[in-house]
Amino acid sequence: MSTSAALRLSNITKEFDGNAAISNVDLEIRTGELLAIIGRSGCGKSTLLRVMAGLVQPTRGVVELNGRPIAGPPEDLTVVFQEYGRSLLPWKTVVSNVAFGLSAARMEKKERVDRALSCLDAVGLLKHADFYPWQLSGGMQQRVALARALARKSSILLLDEPFGSVDAQSRLELQDELLRLWSSFGMTAVIVTHDIDEAIYLADRVCVMRGSPGVISAQAIIGLERPRVQVETRGKPEFSALRRELYESLAG
Ligand SMILES: Nc1ncnc2c1ncn2[C@@H]1O[C@H](COP(=O)(O)OP(=O)(O)OP(=O)(O)O)[C@@H](O)[C@H]1O
Ligand SMILES: [Mg+2]
Repeated sequence: MSTSAALRLSNITKEFDGNAAISNVDLEIRTGELLAIIGRSGCGKSTLLRVMAGLVQPTRGVVELNGRPIAGPPEDLTVVFQEYGRSLLPWKTVVSNVAFGLSAARMEKKERVDRALSCLDAVGLLKHADFYPWQLSGGMQQRVALARALARKSSILLLDEPFGSVDAQSRLELQDELLRLWSSFGMTAVIVTHDIDEAIYLADRVCVMRGSPGVISAQAIIGLERPRVQVETRGKPEFSALRRELYESLAG
């Protein structure tokens, strides 16, 4: 794995109407790393992700992508939002929703559709290409949102609570899907989640956010071998030790 920083956040503070949501955050994400951020509701996780994505201008501090300060959403970075259901267009079919994410790219329509179909195939939804989002379950809609993000072929993927509203079994499947796609596409990924076990299962490193304003209060390196396998990986003593350590960091 390369040790260069894909994203570097230096001394980031974001205030809304004079109230700080996050304060003095320093964070480097290595190229190819899968980083998870955990923390209680309201501690500033989404704000931090939006700052990383160039969607929110920090009040103070700098975000650099591959060594260059960003001033707005970079081309090479894609976000899967917390409210993914609302981010799909109900009047467009699944394949059109995925292809729509490419409309800014200078591509022929056929090329866009072909790429959309191959990404739907990657998330197991090829058969549903002509459905409308409202004809799909929550978990399937989430797969569409993932396919749309993948279609952009960004090297950096930011995911905000991507599996929040799916059932427990689908959630595990989506975690494995994400890991498979992350390793096969060679992406750098940051995932925000409430779920300690999910963070450990997925990540190379877990950062803990706490407080109001939110700060990064602790981190853990996850040395569990890859590929990760749900029951086996979660059953390891190292996994339990990490869960305990992170739980204490969140609660302590
Ligand atoms: N656009 C905004 N305008 C004003 N305040 C905001 C805005 N966005 C976030 N905040 C405030 O910033 C703080 C952090 O919010 P944020 O959405 O980042 O938390 P979070 O950790 O993602 O929470 P959750 O886990 O519930 O998604 C909250 O107090 C919230 O009210
Ligand atoms: Mg949030």
